[in-house]
Amino acid sequence: MLNLSQKYGEWALVTGASSGIGEEFAKQLAKLGMKLILVARRKYRLEALSDYLKKEYNTESIIANVDLSKENFLDELFKCTNGKEIGILINNAGFGSTGEFISCNTDKEIEMIKVNCIAPTLLTHYYLPEMIKRKKGAIIFLGSTVAFQPTPMMTTYSATKAFNLFMGEALWWELKKYNIDVLALNPGGTNTEFQRIAKIGVGPLPREASDVVKTALRALGKKPSVVDGLKNKLITIFIKVIPRRIAVTLAGEIAYSLYIRSYKS
Ligand SMILES: NC(=O)c1ccc[n+]([C@@H]2O[C@H](COP(=O)([O-])OP(=O)(O)OC[C@H]3O[C@@H](n4cnc5c(N)ncnc54)[C@H](OP(=O)(O)O)[C@@H]3O)[C@@H](O)[C@H]2O)c1
Repeated sequence: MLNLSQKYGEWALVTGASSGIGEEFAKQLAKLGMKLILVARRKYRLEALSDYLKKEYNTESIIANVDLSKENFLDELFKCTNGKEIGILINNAGFGSTGEFISCNTDKEIEMIKVNCIAPTLLTHYYLPEMIKRKKGAIIFLGSTVAFQPTPMMTTYSATKAFNLFMGEALWWELKKYNIDVLALNPGGTNTEFQRIAKIGVGPLPREASDVVKTALRALGKKPSVVDGLKNKLITIFIKVIPRRIAVTLAGEIAYSLYIRSYKS
């Protein structure tokens, strides 16, 4: 059986590698023999991860200290990846915000759309031609269980995640003929720094980032999208069969209670 770097190419580029799910992707891919390009703003975190990957798996990694919300981020990244065979692109970096839309800070919401939607679009478009030429590669988009229904109190965030779910699923079909595997990965509440930044509780029975990454690596190449965890899977199936009005109401009630709880604590 081919290993990951033979199947897709030598290097995996992981955005948002400085914590949570991205950091875990870097560790599990290093364990499977991939070299890593680690992208995020917090350089000290990337340096610590790079040292860990070297020590633990003897893995070569490159640090790309890049802010994905900035206009010129592709130029910055190009300096780090020029000449490298990017076999796996993990569009993982992202953050959320909560509260009523009318009270939100529009600058922050626009930054979120840039990091969560514009950056994956540009990165994918940038690295795809080489993958198509080599007739191999893989791309993962980070959706969420909130991508399956509009979620009040996280309105913009849930729209950004629906964007990623649609990107992943549609490109899965378009890129099949080039032998490129695409996956939309949809975690539910997962223990990372996400909740602190989004100011929301993680919800009952949270999953670990390591579970989410294992789910993704199992599903890659087999289907267009995957939901992590049985409980989350059942919820997204239920949401598909109930009227949209009820789905949105339920999502709003749950998001509101998680928001209020984290606001009070
Ligand atoms: N945790 C959950 O419950 C959950 C559920 C569903 C989906 N997700 C999705 O999973 C993905 C990873 O989130 P996580 O849970 O691992 O959260 P996390 O621990 O907060 O990690 C987010 C990562 O994104 C990076 N990032 C944020 N803004 C950036 C920017 N402007 N430029 C470059 N990197 C940036 C952060 O790095 P720096 O701050 O160092 O730049 C960090 O490495 C996100 O797309 C999120 O929407 C999470």
